[in-house]
Amino acid sequence: MGKDSLTVTDNRTGKSYELPIEDGTIRGMDLRQIKTGPEDFGLMSYDPAFMNTASCKSRISFIDGDKGILRYRGYPIEQLAERSTYLETAYLLVKGELPKPSHLAAFTTNITHHTIIHENIKLFIDGFHYDAHPMGILVSTVGALSTFYPEAKKIFDPESRRIQTHRLIAKMPTMAAFAYRHSIGMPYAYPDNDLSYTGNFLNMLFKMTELKYQPNPALERALDVLFILHADHEQNCSTNAMRSVGSSQVDPYSATAAATAALYGPLHGGANEAVIRMLMEIGSVDRIPDYITRVKAGEVRLMGFGHRVYKNYDPRAKIIKEVADEVFEVTGRSALLDIALELERIALADDYFISHKLYPNVDFYSGIIYQAMGFPMDMFPVLFAIPRTAGWVAQWSEMLLDEDQKIARPRQIYLGPDERDYVPVSERGD
Ligand code: CMC
Repeated sequence: MGKDSLTVTDNRTGKSYELPIEDGTIRGMDLRQIKTGPEDFGLMSYDPAFMNTASCKSRISFIDGDKGILRYRGYPIEQLAERSTYLETAYLLVKGELPKPSHLAAFTTNITHHTIIHENIKLFIDGFHYDAHPMGILVSTVGALSTFYPEAKKIFDPESRRIQTHRLIAKMPTMAAFAYRHSIGMPYAYPDNDLSYTGNFLNMLFKMTELKYQPNPALERALDVLFILHADHEQNCSTNAMRSVGSSQVDPYSATAAATAALYGPLHGGANEAVIRMLMEIGSVDRIPDYITRVKAGEVRLMGFGHRVYKNYDPRAKIIKEVADEVFEVTGRSALLDIALELERIALADDYFISHKLYPNVDFYSGIIYQAMGFPMDMFPVLFAIPRTAGWVAQWSEMLLDEDQKIARPRQIYLGPDERDYVPVSERGD
């Protein structure tokens, strides 16, 4: 094996440069020495959408898209989904190791005791229109938390970071559930500390007049598994937003508002809703071949298929399919599931999808499950934001403690006009 370096020859000057290769990457800043003369700024790389640029070193989640592998802190997602709980997985993401029993008990108590939100937050949730999108409400309320906890500014104080982390993981479900109750005109249901994280979330969403809400154990566990699957996913759009905004050293509530806003976009948190709409449009199993023909003609996309990173079955989609069976045992089978199963069967045997390496992703089945559990489509991205909060705060802390990191500030290639003189409006003609 040769040296861990890359030799680049600049054909403009004939000069050669040796750039070190570390962890399969060269440093972008090493390109800057490549100049045509003293006036030259130096070479930069152009990489819109970060298609081939690592923005950080991370020890949190690992994806191998060709093999269909996802691990959190080294643990395969399949093992966590089968044997862990969301709160234990959140601990793993935030702290780096699985907790000992006493540490898990303390973490669970801390999260449980931070679920209540200040009564004033209810007042501004009240101020939203009855049909306000719950994701819009969540973006605003999580950002507003920074005004309730001004000490959150002390981002380099480990104790402050620890408390804000607990508060964020604990309060996201409460704000999300209150946003939902507001949209259906129901009184807010307060957290119940006797219930699990997901059991309590279901309580705050669906409690009616009963004195004590009893979540269905199968649905509670299914939601917990879905939360585990959504907890982190390396440098996706919202995580990048969390790190980028957090790099300005703003408090974590403001950074989480930015991450939540990124997740609101249809290309990120909205694909499972698009799957439901597609399945409703198809309407019945006999109309699937027509739809596949339209996909192959490039008229429409098969929503819930394909991924920027996974070029194999998304490992989360495999687990979700099993969860779907458990949920439908309780809720009864959804007509959309039959269409989805047949659509998947046809697509996976079709040359177009095989040659394009298009496989079901996490969103292909998640929307059908959420719908069967009684969630309206507006709540789908919210159900993504709640569990992703653990990943966001883990990535935010890692960024703050990483000595390589500074305020995120990309370069640009300026293609606008060269210097020109201002002309008063009266002299510009019409
Ligand atoms: N249906 C049909 N053709 C597709 C699809 C699809 N769902 N996805 C990609 N292709 C084709 C595309 O037409 C292109 O073909 P060609 O090379 O012949 O022009 C090729 O595959 C590559 O597509 P791309 O758009 O360049 O791939 P990308 O990596 O930029 O896009 C994607 C990834 C997820 C945006 C895309 O696959 C897609 O639009 N899928 C449907 C939406 C969806 O399910 N999104 C959820 C993603 S998972 C959520 C998460 O992890 O956060």
